[in-house]
Amino acid sequence: MLCLCFQIKTSKSTAKWAYMVKQSIMAKVKFTFEDKSIADVVAEGVEAGYSILEVTEDHDVHLNHNCGGVCACSTCHIYVVKGADSLEEISDKEEDFIDRAINPKLDSRLACQCIILADDADIEVIIPDQKRIIGHEH
Ligand code: FES
Repeated sequence: MLCLCFQIKTSKSTAKWAYMVKQSIMAKVKFTFEDKSIADVVAEGVEAGYSILEVTEDHDVHLNHNCGGVCACSTCHIYVVKGADSLEEISDKEEDFIDRAINPKLDSRLACQCIILADDADIEVIIPDQKRIIGHEH
């Protein structure tokens, strides 16, 4: 019965349905901000293989990244409060730079090093107040 229903859908609605299914199995990243004047941003339909820094750039989330994403500064410091298991593991070099960030915590990461590994990742990140960081976006 379900197959019959599927077959009689128009090609336009089938494409929309396929798009919705694809979106639902792709990663989601929710950004909240220490600066409470900024509204939350939810990035849906994110492909595995992208870094959290790249997701911020694609969704107009302001996050400084002075070294250009090569793990040579700490300006892209974030807090990963959900979905850390879906990200590339932290390296010793990243830990060293996190130690230089403002207010590092146990869930601190560098956004440029957080590669999304799972297609169905559900990640939540807090963006530190960028007014306290001397940096720039590229
Ligand atoms: S941008 Fe410099 S460490 Fe991420």
